[in-house]
Amino acid sequence: MFSTDELCSLRWDPVSQQVEIIDQTLLPHALRWCHLDSLAAYCHAISTMQVRGAPLIGITAAFGLAHALSEDASSENLARASASLLATRPTAVNLRWALDQVGAAVLHLESAERASAALAKAQSLRAEDIANCERIGINGFQLLRSLKKDSCLNIMTHCNAGWLATVQWGTALAPIYKAHASGIAVHVWVSETRPRNQGTNLTAWELQRAGVPCTIVTDNSCGQLMREGRVDCVIVGSDRTAANGDVCNKVGTYLKALAARASRIPFYVALPESTIDWSCASGEQIPIEERDESEVLSITGLDAAGDFREVNLAGAHSRALNPAFDVTPATLVGALITEHGNFEASEQGLQRLRTATGAC
Ligand code: MRU
Repeated sequence: MFSTDELCSLRWDPVSQQVEIIDQTLLPHALRWCHLDSLAAYCHAISTMQVRGAPLIGITAAFGLAHALSEDASSENLARASASLLATRPTAVNLRWALDQVGAAVLHLESAERASAALAKAQSLRAEDIANCERIGINGFQLLRSLKKDSCLNIMTHCNAGWLATVQWGTALAPIYKAHASGIAVHVWVSETRPRNQGTNLTAWELQRAGVPCTIVTDNSCGQLMREGRVDCVIVGSDRTAANGDVCNKVGTYLKALAARASRIPFYVALPESTIDWSCASGEQIPIEERDESEVLSITGLDAAGDFREVNLAGAHSRALNPAFDVTPATLVGALITEHGNFEASEQGLQRLRTATGAC
């Protein structure tokens, strides 16, 4: 399925020697690739969500730092560019993780070697992310297979944790792609994910391209669908998971975890190890991004003439609060699906992961 660079969210253009990204703010109505040709363009792409999703934010920042070093490889500029990229969005820990990886790879090098070393590191982080996400797909597929019924497997997801949020495969959607490719009948309930509609705009688009049956549902209808027994499991991604197993993901995830528990439905979280913040003891310490209220008060779409148009949903002078993420306590998470295997969402479970990776 992912044999070419067509189905990927970020690629290297050897002609321009620049990164190309899919501008996700235009999906599902337009598939437009755009080049990132300056540090400012990288920061803009992350903060305006042309690229989004924790792993992809990290990979993009890694290439952004390499770009900055290609213009000025001094230690001052290394620190300046890292700080600019880190300031784009606060919650997804992959951003800090990727900048630390590139920083460590170049810090002790002569200036003249830094830009090429940083680019090589960014390229290897991209390749690792693709391999890790496929492994997440394989490990998550084991869980789905254990749920398999005679009829179709109905899986609910929230936001977009597909290949548009990583480079290829995705996290939460990777097991679904593996199950579909193996011939298991699956159907996906795609939660719209207000206010930026990553479910409607990105997840449904991805699944339709892959031929995976899916239905867009309002965020608020998901609890009722679970109560009616129309959902066999819920799989979501993560932006930062604490060392005790608390999971931070797109706002609305916590409500789905509560509804899943009330209806005794498995609730799984798929994530690469790079999304685990070992320095964070619990979810209470995770910074929650608050975005502009305009994202709640207005909405963008295609009008009848086929033009992009933003329209106001709320009355004049209305105010809104827009937390972009929430925290699901580890106790509500049935399993953490990673590239290293499936683990209990708990301190002990994550210690087992560390042991499995030889990190301790
Ligand atoms: O605000 P976004 O679109 O960056 O939020 C993305 C999510 O919450 C994803 O579920 C998460 O980053 C995991 S992506 C594999």
